[in-house]
Amino acid sequence: MNPVEPTEPLEDEATLQLDANGNLCHLLTLKGIGKSLLTDILDDAENYLTRPGELPARSQTLAGRTVANLFFEASTRTRASFDLAGRRLGADVLNLDVNTSSRKKGESILDTIYTLEAMQVDAMVVRDASAGVPAYIARHVLPHVSILNAGESDVSHPTQGLLDVLTIRQHKADFANMAVAIVGDIRHSRVAMSTSQALLTLGVGEIRLISPPVLAPVDGKIPGGLVFDNLKEGLRDADVVMALRIQRERIGNIDGIPGIDEYFANFGVSRESMKFARPDAIVMHPGPMNRGIEIEGVLADGPQSVITQQVTNGVAVRMAVLDRIGKTMAARQ
Ligand code: NCD
Repeated sequence: MNPVEPTEPLEDEATLQLDANGNLCHLLTLKGIGKSLLTDILDDAENYLTRPGELPARSQTLAGRTVANLFFEASTRTRASFDLAGRRLGADVLNLDVNTSSRKKGESILDTIYTLEAMQVDAMVVRDASAGVPAYIARHVLPHVSILNAGESDVSHPTQGLLDVLTIRQHKADFANMAVAIVGDIRHSRVAMSTSQALLTLGVGEIRLISPPVLAPVDGKIPGGLVFDNLKEGLRDADVVMALRIQRERIGNIDGIPGIDEYFANFGVSRESMKFARPDAIVMHPGPMNRGIEIEGVLADGPQSVITQQVTNGVAVRMAVLDRIGKTMAARQ
C-alpha cells in the first residue's frame, strides 16, 4: 500500500463514516458511533434473528446493489457472515479470491478498488493487515461507494465489537454494573479494541484486560481498561469472560511468550479458572479458537459458552449495518 501522505488535514475516520445528516455511509470504526446509533443497530440486528430451523430473515434493501468482499487476511466467520448478510438483503455478492487477485501481481490496493468501482460495485468489505487501509480506501472511492471495515490490523474490528455487545446484551441487561474480563493477547487484538469501545459507549462498569506482561496492551490502547497479569485476580466476580487467540501472525520475534502448557495453566479460560468468575458468567470467544491454549474445549462446548450465539449474531449485525448503509444509498438518489 502507498503510504497516506496528506497534503491537508485528513477528515477523521469517525467523521468520514457519517454523512451530514448523521447517517452511516461507511463503517470504519466504532469511535464516534454514539450510544443511540449503536443501540439502534443492535435493535435492528435483533429483528434479523429467527429461531433455529426457521428460515433466515430476508429483506430487499440491497436489491440491485453489489457488495464485494476483499479479505487480504484469513477469515472464516467474518467473511461468510458478510457474504450471507449481503445475499439475505438481496445484493449480488462478489467474493474476490485475493490469492489469485492482481494485488498479488503488485497491483496497488487503489487500482484494485478502482477496478471494482468500474464494475459498479456499491459496497466493499475490507480486511487488511495494515493499519489505516479502510479509511484510506474510503477517502478515495466515489461518493456513492461504501466501505466496511472487516478487520484492520490490530486497530479495530467494528462488526465484531457490535456482535459481541449484542450477545452480552442478550444475557445481561445491566451494563453499568457489569465486569467484562478479556483474556489473552490484548496487545495484538483488534477485537479487544472494538469490543471495549462498544462496551464503553454502552456505559460498562469495568473492563479487565488479562494477559502475560508481554501481551499486555500498550499504554492507552484501551482507555479505562484495568490491566491484570494474574488470571484469577482478573476473573474475580466477572460477569463476562472473553478469551482471545494469540495473534502469532502479528507478533514476529518477541521473547517471553510462555509455552503452550504454561500459557494454558496460567491464562487458559477453563472450568477451573471460571470458578473465580460469577457462577452465571458467560464465556465468549471471537474465533478461531485454539482449544487447549487460550480456552478449554469442554468449557467452549459447555452451558456457559455463548460462542456459537456470537456467530449467529454476526450475520444479524452485518445485515443491520448493510441495511442501514443501503438505506443511506437509497436516500441519496
Ligand atoms: C478475529 C479477527 O480476525 O480479528 N476473528 C474474527 O474476526 N472472528 C480474532 C482472531 O483472528 O483471533
